[in-house]
Amino acid sequence: MAASDLLRPALLAAARSPRMERTITKIPVTRNLVDRFVAGETEDQAVTASTGILDSGRYITIDYLGEDTTDLAQANSTVSHYLTLLSSLAQFAPAGAHTGEPRNIEVSLKLSALGQFLPRDGHKVALENAHKICAAAEEAGAWVTVDAEDHTTTDSTLSIVRELRQDFPSLGTVLQAYLKRTEADCKDLSGPGSRIRLCKGAYKEPASVAYQGKAAVDDAYLRCLQILMNGRGYPMVASHDPAMINAALQYAEANGRDVDEFELQMLYGIRDAEQLRLIGEQQHLRVYLPYGEQWYGYFMRRLAERPANLAFFLRSLAST
Ligand code: FDA
Repeated sequence: MAASDLLRPALLAAARSPRMERTITKIPVTRNLVDRFVAGETEDQAVTASTGILDSGRYITIDYLGEDTTDLAQANSTVSHYLTLLSSLAQFAPAGAHTGEPRNIEVSLKLSALGQFLPRDGHKVALENAHKICAAAEEAGAWVTVDAEDHTTTDSTLSIVRELRQDFPSLGTVLQAYLKRTEADCKDLSGPGSRIRLCKGAYKEPASVAYQGKAAVDDAYLRCLQILMNGRGYPMVASHDPAMINAALQYAEANGRDVDEFELQMLYGIRDAEQLRLIGEQQHLRVYLPYGEQWYGYFMRRLAERPANLAFFLRSLAST
């Protein structure tokens, strides 16, 4: 087993540990590496970073960081941040933003940040909060996509997405290829008008529900991608992996999809040169740009994905 396979579960467990969070967020050099993946803490900083990305011809999806909220006031504050953000983003939406064309501006939401885990009425609160954000996004000419969190949330998340889609048919959702259920979810959700962002999956999941190891996850990703590309919806191919990206381009061509009928997506700060190369090849590419003070969980998942990120972090610590 590779060292990275051993480290990944430990880092993903640390991503959910409040004690580790208190320790790691206090280390001054952490900030340098966080800045590579997170575009600041305020709406102004997120909008400034987005401007450069949009100017380069890429699309944007912005995530106000936060997750696993058990406090109603915090869930409501997250909604306010999204509403402020969307009012600033409206200036970037082109005149045709309300037609069926791909929209250049999007926000991404985590339902657990909107109250999904509140002890009473969590499902209802998250639904109502997401509804407010979707309405503001519609007004601003922006799309909304709901992120996927750990597998215990999948049923509740997909059920909220189904309810929201009755009022906001363009609402997108993320599916994680490592979950064994996802091929069936792709079949279910690949109908006309659906927008599915397919990622490999970033949480620590047991073998009972998720494929383990890169080869099995990659195979599952390709099977899910085939289903989405064969379907009638709008696939959003969220991966930095050249094998997944090449497969997406091949499947799109084989299914007669033109460039407006799917898009590629990558995270802010990862494979920037490749993002620009793909834009140069006339592909649509959307950057997932997170901002906010609650960066710890997101940052730890990025460390877990790539041993080189962890090595860089440890070297920075050693040199202080
Ligand atoms: P893989 O991990 O195999 O990496 C392939 C190559 O990409 C690596 O060799 C490296 O070159 C580069 N790379 C990957 N990760 C890197 C990193 N952190 N730093 C530097 N280089 C890196 N997950 C989830 O569970 N729920 C969600 O809602 C989302 N949402 C989401 C949106 C978007 C737009 C993206 C791109 C990804 C997500 N993810 C996610 C994360 C996803 O599940 C997955 O963990 C990462 O994308 C890494 O998987 P890859 O497909 O990139 O392949």
